[in-house]
Amino acid sequence: MEEVSEQITKKTLYSAVQPTNALTIGNYIGAIKSMVDMQHDYNCYFAIANMHAITVRQVPAQLRQKTLALVALYLACGLDPSRCTIYVQSHVPCHAELAWVLNTFTYVGEMERMTQFKDKSAKHADNINMGLMDYPVLMAADILLYKTDVVPVGIDQRQHLEICRDIAQRFNNIYSPTFVLPEGVYPKVGAKIGDLLEPTKKMSKSSENPGGTIFMDDDKDTIIRKFRRAVTDSENEIRYDPEKKPGVSNLLSIYTAFSGKSIEEAEREFAGKGYGDFKLAVGETVAEKLAPVQSEQARLLADKDYLDNILREGAAKAYKVASATLSKVYRKIGFYQI
Ligand code: TYM
Repeated sequence: MEEVSEQITKKTLYSAVQPTNALTIGNYIGAIKSMVDMQHDYNCYFAIANMHAITVRQVPAQLRQKTLALVALYLACGLDPSRCTIYVQSHVPCHAELAWVLNTFTYVGEMERMTQFKDKSAKHADNINMGLMDYPVLMAADILLYKTDVVPVGIDQRQHLEICRDIAQRFNNIYSPTFVLPEGVYPKVGAKIGDLLEPTKKMSKSSENPGGTIFMDDDKDTIIRKFRRAVTDSENEIRYDPEKKPGVSNLLSIYTAFSGKSIEEAEREFAGKGYGDFKLAVGETVAEKLAPVQSEQARLLADKDYLDNILREGAAKAYKVASATLSKVYRKIGFYQI
């Protein structure tokens, strides 16, 4: 009874991460950390977006392994499966089905203009497939199926959130109000964590130089070494100014996300200190925080049955909500139902 009334009063939150490569601290700070922080106040759905992952060619065995590794990472980072619905996107067929319908409310020109599509097309010039282009429509389907109010993501997803709202609004205008228009929620600090070697560029799982990326499974020595080499500037002042000091500001963002301190507190703490000491402190803080997450992830991964059960339950709960939305959409657009 309590669970039912909670679901009625709470707003709905949705987010997803692709199970590709190793995750980075950018994924953690931009999305997973907010998911963990917000899980108590919302009715939450968290997916492992394996259907989005195949828009870039994947090795099947690795995709399977990374899917489970991501479930374990969600839990190790603090997502509580008794509070939120954790599931694999392909386990709920409604995502592909709604995406097809939404395709007919989306214009080719809109998709061609998406920054991520343009970036990924340049990166994978030999495989500019329809899925890559259709990626935001599938993402809109993910979000809209659950009547989502808020979507915590990094700033790179803002354009996809906006097109999701446009598609939903278009559908609502043509028929009657059907979809809830979702709001993107971006962390105040850390919505775009930069590459350590090129801080104006987004830290990415698939960066050409892994030296600029901290992976969630990097060990302490690797983490410290990468932070030591992080690009800063020619001044010697630890101050948050993303325009003039992108390197130092990026390190400050990472430090505050992992230490729980504010930017002002961090600036005070490092006032008068050199960049070498600062970088070491950031590295140590990150490594200290990641070590227990890594060992918990490994412990959980050894218990495949436990993870499978969470996914089975998650898929069933997700399907219930998603299929109701899909059925409503089918009715509105005139699909004959038996
Ligand atoms: P993905 O797997 O690329 O990234 C997962 C999340 O990490 C955020 N992120 C970052 N945030 C800050 N700084 C960075 N350097 C950084 N790199 C990545 C991303 O913004 C994202 O929130 N399309 C999504 C997955 C998805 C989804 C959805 C998200 C599929 N369906 C529905 C929300 C709702 C993506 O590319 O994730």
